[in-house]
Amino acid sequence: MIDVAIFASGTGTNFVNLVKNEKLNKYINIDLLVCDNGEAKVIEEAKNLGIKVLVFNPKEYKEKKDYEKMLLEKTSKYKYLILAGYMRIISEYFLKNYNGKIINIHPSILPKYKGLNAIERAYNDKEKEIGVTIHYVNEKVDDGKIISQDKFIVDYNKSLEEIISQVHKIEYDLYPKTLIEIFRKDNL
Ligand code: GRF
Repeated sequence: MIDVAIFASGTGTNFVNLVKNEKLNKYINIDLLVCDNGEAKVIEEAKNLGIKVLVFNPKEYKEKKDYEKMLLEKTSKYKYLILAGYMRIISEYFLKNYNGKIINIHPSILPKYKGLNAIERAYNDKEKEIGVTIHYVNEKVDDGKIISQDKFIVDYNKSLEEIISQVHKIEYDLYPKTLIEIFRKDNL
């Protein structure tokens, strides 16, 4: 069993989806939620699911390096960190000192639409296809090696909200599926 921590900042629907995926949880033990926002719904979700929570407030630290040092100490035992809507950039300092792999999910067909509001920007640009990418994390935003992608042809009779929920549906399928593949190989 591989111990992992999930980093999330928001609602936590991907977090819950991963925790509840029985097949995925045959390979990993989701041991800890790390959250940088004391108000985030994901905290309550983790507590209800009996998962340890580490909440920190970046504003209480002088520099990014200071809270990342704390995070490194708390997460060094995990071979993998899984980001699911974690809204902060992981710095080069963290990446250099973390002895494991960090995986992220982003709601666009990378390398297109890195950063915030990716679905909305793609929709407003009338992109033919919209999708989701799972990738390893490097020091740039939404930039590391791509692991998997899924996409669909956009029906512009649908509202942005409908397209956003279509993207989320893909996320709930692609993220566990991709992680199972990674952890299955890791276990061989
Ligand atoms: C997801 O769309 C994910 O791709 C992005 O942030 C969102 C998180 O949503 N990185 P949730 O908190 O899992 O509901």
